[in-house]
Amino acid sequence: ADPDPLLDFCVADLNASPSFANFPCKPTTNVTFEDFFFDGLMKEGNTSNLFGVGVSQGNVLTFPALNMLGLSMNRVDLAPNGLNPPHSHPRATESGVVINGKILVGFVTTGNVFYSKVLNPGQMFVIPRGLVHFQKNVGEKKAVIITAFNSQNPGAVILPTTLFGAQPSIPDHVLAQTFQIDSSVVHGIESKFGSPI
Ligand code: GLV
Ligand code: MN
Repeated sequence: ADPDPLLDFCVADLNASPSFANFPCKPTTNVTFEDFFFDGLMKEGNTSNLFGVGVSQGNVLTFPALNMLGLSMNRVDLAPNGLNPPHSHPRATESGVVINGKILVGFVTTGNVFYSKVLNPGQMFVIPRGLVHFQKNVGEKKAVIITAFNSQNPGAVILPTTLFGAQPSIPDHVLAQTFQIDSSVVHGIESKFGSPI
């Protein structure tokens, strides 16, 4: 989804630009072998949170050598029963492979058709660009998924926090009307996602 490269590489100089979209290249004389390796997906992500999920990101911001190359990867750790909650990536199609565990993967099309399947280690899935999807650990043990994106910076719109954890918050009456619920229910949900009540 990203533009085609104009150079062999352009290791991002993250400090040089105030912009998070178009990074200048680190001077080639300062580029070393080490720039092209990233250890950030080696260890288990922290799953001690509301959802039991830890997402470790290998994108241009954490692994600057990905700059201009149009791809990135994540490691998703899920505690037993853990959920990577419904979200979408505005700038990339996602593909993934289950490394450990038993995972329910699902996405919904723009026509509101729901596709899902339970996957075992070695099985792969694809989530078309921009569609809302989730992964849930439906096995007894910890689970790991490796995901890949055709963008150096796919972005993530995480529905629960986008709607109920925005700062400043979306007006209560909008959320109450959206979900056809009382604003006390809106407050109850917001209290879990960090929005002031
Ligand atoms: C999984 O859906 C991920 O975005 O890494
Ligand atoms: Mn995703």
